[in-house]
Amino acid sequence: MATEANSRVLDVKGLRAGYQGNQVLDGISFHLKRGEVVTLLGRNGAGKSTTLKCLMGFIEEKSGSIEFEGTAIARSLPEQIARLGMAYCPEERGIFSQLSVLENLTLPPVIRDGGLSVDEVYQLFPNLNERSASQGTKLSGGEQQMLAIGRILRTGAKFLLLDEPSEGLAPVIVKLIGKTIQQLKDRGFTILLVEQNLRFACELADRHYVMETGRIVDELSRSEINHNLSRVQAHLGI
Ligand SMILES: Nc1ncnc2c1ncn2[C@@H]1O[C@H](COP(=O)(O)OP(=O)(O)O)[C@@H](O)[C@H]1O
Ligand SMILES: [Mg+2]
Repeated sequence: MATEANSRVLDVKGLRAGYQGNQVLDGISFHLKRGEVVTLLGRNGAGKSTTLKCLMGFIEEKSGSIEFEGTAIARSLPEQIARLGMAYCPEERGIFSQLSVLENLTLPPVIRDGGLSVDEVYQLFPNLNERSASQGTKLSGGEQQMLAIGRILRTGAKFLLLDEPSEGLAPVIVKLIGKTIQQLKDRGFTILLVEQNLRFACELADRHYVMETGRIVDELSRSEINHNLSRVQAHLGI
């Protein structure tokens, strides 16, 4: 039987990181079990995006241990981490404006079996199907976000890092993105979600970590967060 420890897909211990000698992450520890949706909540500047970048191997200035699928990856390169099945959807979305929806979708290499086909991505996001030939510049913010998520689903990664997917989007689009994340969870994806939208996060996630100035200051389960909303809101400055 799987023990609690070995059902962990990701196990981070004492992670410190910074930029040009300025420490940003001050020794954070957290984990995700297979199939979980877990959020990192926190105000602007708390270190949420830096955490995701560290996991994906984009920040060299770091120490501590990161185990992903049983492999120590704290010193691995982004392409090595991608091959283990982790994918990252950045806050700025990173859509190539001169390329069409279909070209953007098919740009990242498929690195392992089990990725979604273009048709399956279009089933998940019908809006993208309609706009298949449209240039990146012609897309709304919501369509760009769908494309940014759809693009990493083709690669075969089953562990997704999503940085503020609801940011700046109309409520109806936020709902649609939430529904899609739920569908991905139902398909067995494990998702680390960075969010500032507490309502969106509460509806989706199994567990929450609250970050403040480079530390994890609170951890709450789905049921706990609903009873402690004011405590979390205080951390988020809402
Ligand atoms: N590329 C960078 N160079 C220098 N400092 C950075 C860089 N990226 C982020 N920071 C700093 O690190 C801190 C945490 O930023 P970030 O991880 O983006 O926070 P969050 O995603 O929680 O808003 C902030 O003080 C920010 O100014
Ligand atoms: Mg951020």
